[in-house]
Amino acid sequence: MKARARARANIAFAKYWGKADLELNLPAVPSLSMTLDRLVTDTTVRFDDALDADRVSLDGRDATEGERARIVELLDRVRETSGSRRFAHVESENHFPTAAGLASSASGFAALAGAATVAAGMEYDAHLVSRMARRSSASAARSVWGGFVELAAGTPGDDTLAAAPLKGPEHWDVRLVVGLTAKGEKEVGSTTGMERSRKTSPLYEAWIEKAPILATRIREGLLARDLSAVGPAMEQSTMAFHACAMTSNPPIMYWHPTTLAVLASIRKLRDQGVEVYATMDAGPHVKALCHADDAERVQAAMKGSERILGTLVCKAGADLEVEA
Ligand code: DP6
Repeated sequence: MKARARARANIAFAKYWGKADLELNLPAVPSLSMTLDRLVTDTTVRFDDALDADRVSLDGRDATEGERARIVELLDRVRETSGSRRFAHVESENHFPTAAGLASSASGFAALAGAATVAAGMEYDAHLVSRMARRSSASAARSVWGGFVELAAGTPGDDTLAAAPLKGPEHWDVRLVVGLTAKGEKEVGSTTGMERSRKTSPLYEAWIEKAPILATRIREGLLARDLSAVGPAMEQSTMAFHACAMTSNPPIMYWHPTTLAVLASIRKLRDQGVEVYATMDAGPHVKALCHADDAERVQAAMKGSERILGTLVCKAGADLEVEA
């Protein structure tokens, strides 16, 4: 009745932004990511006859109502699938070296889905865990595997969608240098941001039409280990989804002044001949993709950016681990 899981966050090279089905949480575009070795979440789930409600602790404190509701929703689905009616103790801890601002729903829901299914007595099934994680947060579906992972676009009404591993961590010795630019939670959550983009951004349709082309380019470049193919397409994927967010009504601006300072440092370094490319998610932090040999220079350039709070160099990480 108890299981423990360890999952790692991931960063998309080809971005997921927009839903094909809000109820089933199905992405409207394909995405492709790298799982990161150093952004780790450990989660323990223990089902207990004596409980009359789920108990959730996150990083040693009680979960807020909003956090708890999303976790209970996943536990309800696990109860439905396994036939169990017990409530659970959930304890989750993020081991993110640079602390604030990087909390990840991706590693969190992947670890929770892994631990909850096994604690409920089910055989570990990565595909099922990825499906369950996807319902809670679609990027979490990708954190079930290490290395490089893809998630197809969904078909409305079809709840079977899961991510799939593309290549293991050994495939490509690249680094993702994370630059922390601000403290605190993002102002507009991904789900709200995506729905507002869909309903109000004049660029949304173009994004939905062109994102698959960028994803294919990124996939081919990744298979060929060609940074000069992956990098520009990854930057375009980032800028295109941020453009949708920025042109929503009311606009969603995830960038802070430091975001622009780091972007400028990356561009300057590239002008000096270093192959390095930027990506950003629904928040102000900047992540730079580069060859392993260039990671130190990239980190130094980021550290030189005005008001940067911290940096962290990540490699491709491992699969979700679950033990009973
Ligand atoms: C910009 O997976 O957080 O990071 O499914 O609504 O929970 P929900 O969204 P979420 O969205 C991640 C969006 C992104 C791009 C990406 O990771 O692909």
